[in-house]
Amino acid sequence: MEQVRSSFRRLDPDDYPEVSDYSWDEIYGRGDNMAPGGLYLASRIARSLNLQRGDRVLDLACGKGDSSIFLAKHFGVSVICFDAWTSASYLSRKIEAAGLGDAVLPLDLDATDLLPFPDDYFQAFFCMQGLHSFGTDPDVTRRLLAHLQPGGRFGFGGTCFSQEPDGPLPAIFQETAGWDAEYHNYHSPSWWVDLFEETRLVDVLNCEELPDGLVMWEDDVLYHGERAGWSNAWFEKSKWLIDQLVFSRHHRPSLTHYVGTVEKKDWSSRTPRPSP
Ligand SMILES: C[S@@+](CC[C@H](N)C(=O)[O-])C[C@H]1O[C@@H](n2cnc3c(N)ncnc32)[C@H](O)[C@@H]1O
Repeated sequence: MEQVRSSFRRLDPDDYPEVSDYSWDEIYGRGDNMAPGGLYLASRIARSLNLQRGDRVLDLACGKGDSSIFLAKHFGVSVICFDAWTSASYLSRKIEAAGLGDAVLPLDLDATDLLPFPDDYFQAFFCMQGLHSFGTDPDVTRRLLAHLQPGGRFGFGGTCFSQEPDGPLPAIFQETAGWDAEYHNYHSPSWWVDLFEETRLVDVLNCEELPDGLVMWEDDVLYHGERAGWSNAWFEKSKWLIDQLVFSRHHRPSLTHYVGTVEKKDWSSRTPRPSP
């Protein structure tokens, strides 16, 4: 445990001006099960969306709603959000408590179903730590993209491996203490580039491992360790992940984070190809 406290690194706050007014606890959703990266990752994803006040943003797989609240508060956008495992009623209570009932609308939806939105409805899509759960099928992604306006951007990001493994994942990544870490769905940034290009509906603007992608994991572990009072019970429960992060410092593929942005093609503004 001492080795974690002394060698795991905190993210550099200068790299995250969007959350300079937030406490560490707020950045990680005050322990309400926000996924790794917290609002640090949300900031990175939102950065290249070019959000304007009043934009309509869809937060897909919003979890406990912290990213939706952050987007509405920080960028003045109007957010519709949903998550398969968190009810709209739960989200609504939390959003109301944050004073954002007029800005964030939670719904009970599943990203793999047909969604009840008009075509070209949203100025932007946002998805944090959720795309691997439902978006690995290009047909699902293609269907979702129907609701994004031409020229609109889809920002996404989450946990990933630095590269696709040559064979099976290293044995250390098989250990998850019984928790489904969904590693079978984690992919490298370049895999996601291929997936989006396969839809033929978007231009990929960027999709890369974050320079502090591993530190983002370490910061998350430090936060949860601190929150748990550095108890032995927390350490025993988290040791498999800690071992994977230590392994990731010197081996590939490593566990890290990535962020990507795609822009929906706007065929109306493209110069028609000259006829042969
Ligand atoms: C790792 S959590 C991330 C949640 C949140 N975005 C965050 O960063 O804290 C992944 C989320 O994806 C959601 N999810 C998985 N499949 C989904 C689907 N088909 N439609 C909507 N949400 C889905 C789960 O309910 C879960 O909350």
